Amino acid sequence: MPETLLRAEDLTVRYGPVTALENVSLHVDEGEIVALVGANGAGKSTLLKTLSGLIRPAAGTITFRDTDLARTQAHRIVQAGLVHVPEGRHVFPRFSLKENLLAGAYTNDWKNAGKRAEEIIESTPILARRAGSTAGQLSGGEQQMLVIQRALMADPRMVMLDEPSMGLSPVLADQVLELVSGLRDRGVTVLLVEQNALGALDIADRVYALATGEVLYSGSSAELRDDPQFADQFLGVVSADAERRAQESGHH
Ligand SMILES: Nc1ncnc2c1ncn2[C@@H]1O[C@H](COP(=O)(O)OP(=O)(O)OP(=O)(O)O)[C@@H](O)[C@H]1O
Ligand SMILES: [Mg+2]
Repeated sequence: MPETLLRAEDLTVRYGPVTALENVSLHVDEGEIVALVGANGAGKSTLLKTLSGLIRPAAGTITFRDTDLARTQAHRIVQAGLVHVPEGRHVFPRFSLKENLLAGAYTNDWKNAGKRAEEIIESTPILARRAGSTAGQLSGGEQQMLVIQRALMADPRMVMLDEPSMGLSPVLADQVLELVSGLRDRGVTVLLVEQNALGALDIADRVYALATGEVLYSGSSAELRDDPQFADQFLGVVSADAERRAQESGHH
């Protein structure tokens, strides 16, 4: 049995009067890619922010290995091996790619960071051919590669990625998901937030589906792919029945 790295139980998170998460439980085992899907406002980013210590839950527990995350400061959570890549590809636009990568290494091993940053740039073709640029000159897809690689500079055991493929062309989105998929081979466990549920199912071992702050479905990717209700709600697949009814009534 693989070790459970991260376990959240009965998390409730409120923003003032708004309940963003209610009794959410999930776990991620070492070596897994777990996807979190759900519509806008479902609570996906709130969940990642809570797991990384940026938001404190009103109730519930979070453990990462032996650490109680609900009582741990965000920078200590990074040191414990859990790194969060927030939505929106926040690069330092006027700085070089190498300088951007170095910003991810502030918690550990500063001595070798420069060499590691150069190795990462050289071994990532998309970044290597833009090595002379500043981060602000990169395309969205290139910036996404950069922020994922920046997270790896902290040498994490697990990364949480918030919508890395958002707004990218299908080709670039695939490249980003390929990079994410490759993290597992490098021994990095992944919790991936994706609105592109089809892409998520392709690379994830297991999936949790959130709706209005609650877990509606969870299971292996294979199970959920074959679940017509999940497909209807999260894959944007119009069921054959619904299509027939739409045609009969003259709509498409
Ligand atoms: N800082 C905040 N203050 C008040 N309400 C908030 C705040 N941040 C999020 N919310 C609300 O909490 C709920 C969950 O938001 P969250 O950003 O976690 O959703 P999401 O699933 O990440 O959505 P998206 O797909 O649009 O990124 C929403 O109803 C949102 O309006
Ligand atoms: Mg979000």
